[in-house]
Amino acid sequence: MTHTLSSIRINEQRFKTNFEALSRIGATDAGGAHRPALSAADLGARAWFRERVEAAGLEYACDAEGNQSALLRGDCEGAPPFLLGSHLDTVPDGGRFDGALGVLAALEVLQTIKESGYSPSVNLEAINFTDEEGTHVGLLGSRALTGKLTSLDLGGPNQGVEVFESGLSRLGLTRDGILGSSRDPKMIAGYLELHIEQGSTLAECGEEIGIVTAIVGILRLRLRFIGRADHAGTTPVQRRRDAGRVACTFAAHTWETVLRDFTDCVINVGNMRFEPGIFNVVPAAVTLDLELRASSNPRLTALHDALVHLARQEAKEAEVELEITLAEDIAPATMDLTVQQALIECAQAAGQKYRSMPSGAGHDAQSFADICPTGMIFIPSVAGVSHSPKEFSHWQDCVNGANLLLQTALKLTHVPT
Ligand code: GLV
Ligand code: MN
Ligand code: MN
Repeated sequence: MTHTLSSIRINEQRFKTNFEALSRIGATDAGGAHRPALSAADLGARAWFRERVEAAGLEYACDAEGNQSALLRGDCEGAPPFLLGSHLDTVPDGGRFDGALGVLAALEVLQTIKESGYSPSVNLEAINFTDEEGTHVGLLGSRALTGKLTSLDLGGPNQGVEVFESGLSRLGLTRDGILGSSRDPKMIAGYLELHIEQGSTLAECGEEIGIVTAIVGILRLRLRFIGRADHAGTTPVQRRRDAGRVACTFAAHTWETVLRDFTDCVINVGNMRFEPGIFNVVPAAVTLDLELRASSNPRLTALHDALVHLARQEAKEAEVELEITLAEDIAPATMDLTVQQALIECAQAAGQKYRSMPSGAGHDAQSFADICPTGMIFIPSVAGVSHSPKEFSHWQDCVNGANLLLQTALKLTHVPT
């Protein structure tokens, strides 16, 4: 890279102004952000993003998956674009940085390059992906764009079909459109994403940058224990077929199993819904949402098999029926070694303290890992807190991350003339 290119830096003030403006959309009293995908606040953020893209003089596009793009054309008619992206949606009552940082940094990178007068050797595209967080279907936009989403994945959206479809129609999207418009992998030159770490490693070690080596795999299961409703005062405890009791026992035993046999994995019981869900009726049915994460497919499969076996055994002993549905299956992903090396060289050139590390959180980047050179940058999360209104990163770390995104995108796409 030329000396001039390696000295380009983002416009910190504009980046901050954009971050503050976006943070006001869906802002919560606790200081966080509430923008579940396809909600009114998400639509507000999307409208704001489009307006910023157009005001920057970049080309705006929205695909049939609802992914929004800003495009900066380079010196390369017809060549595949290099993508920079993340997501503007949040978990309910989430934080201001998760996802938003990466989208705003991507936009800032394109604006900075445009203003520098440098004409990139490829087209550069900044993307806001639809529903990364799985309000309806996890990684919806990035999995659909990369051709990984199937009709099965759209079959059991997390808030139910009606809520999902009315959300889609608000955006003018359809299921068929989502499934029918993936991009040709040959038309994607590469993918880079900036994100907060969402863990405490960088902050605790006093490092400024994490260079992601791999991203965890995720399985989401819905277990429905079906027992029998009975009078909660008159039915002897021994004669009940209590779905609530089995679901609670199973939940406790999943933790014991992980702590004993799967210390390299994590699980989460994210929700339990009791039916009919009142004081005086023995629960007739309970639906339990269980998430499993592991860094390799064999470990994920072993954990899955152990917990499904446990659930079946406990249901059988309690004479309760059990239905298990696989709600989401997101494969672990390895980041490209050439991209990791480029990130290391750019971090070194900037004098940034960095470490290579895996990601325990899921990201849009994992949709791209098997189709194009893909990499991710982490910046520190104060106290490792995320998916919470208390999520916070120091602004200087955000700026450092955005500059590393800029420099690495230039390094990976520059073709000397
Ligand atoms: C995304 O934030 C995830 O890891 O669930
Ligand atoms: Mn995220
Ligand atoms: Mn998240």
